Amino acid sequence: MAVLTILHYPDERLRQPGRKVEALTDELRQLIDDMAETMYAAPGVGLAATQVGQLWQLFVVDCAAEGEPSDLRVFVNPEILDKQGTVTFDEGCLSFPGAREEVERAERVRVRAQDRDGKWFELEAEGLLAIAIQHEYDHLQGVLMIDRLGPLKKRLLHRKMLRRDTQPTA
Ligand code: NI
Repeated sequence: MAVLTILHYPDERLRQPGRKVEALTDELRQLIDDMAETMYAAPGVGLAATQVGQLWQLFVVDCAAEGEPSDLRVFVNPEILDKQGTVTFDEGCLSFPGAREEVERAERVRVRAQDRDGKWFELEAEGLLAIAIQHEYDHLQGVLMIDRLGPLKKRLLHRKMLRRDTQPTA
């Protein structure tokens, strides 16, 4: 397994949507394992393939609370079938290091996807898991957290990320 490089905003590659996965090859399963390792190393609660420059409809999430056993979930070719309610949540994103922004999302979602073995499943999610699913699903369409903000917050976050980008890294 390997920790992959996470692309940071404003990298244009984050704007490219993922392609549909036709077959879960060994190579893609390796990518899934590497993405999980990358997410845990960050650490984060979700990671989309498009964030590591792999243009596939695929993301991983683990929303287990601290001290709870891990709850890794793999979503391949996900579709959001239904959304209910609205909730505002203070979101972070591994492609926006250090940023936290209030984003409005549906409170509950019903999602259909394939797992690591290609088996289709349906899931009703709420709480943090529902937020993470919507956030990662957005990534697969090339949509980022910043797109969900009002004009002022959008501008501030954009500037903050550009400043961060020009700072030397050790
Ligand atoms: Ni993100």
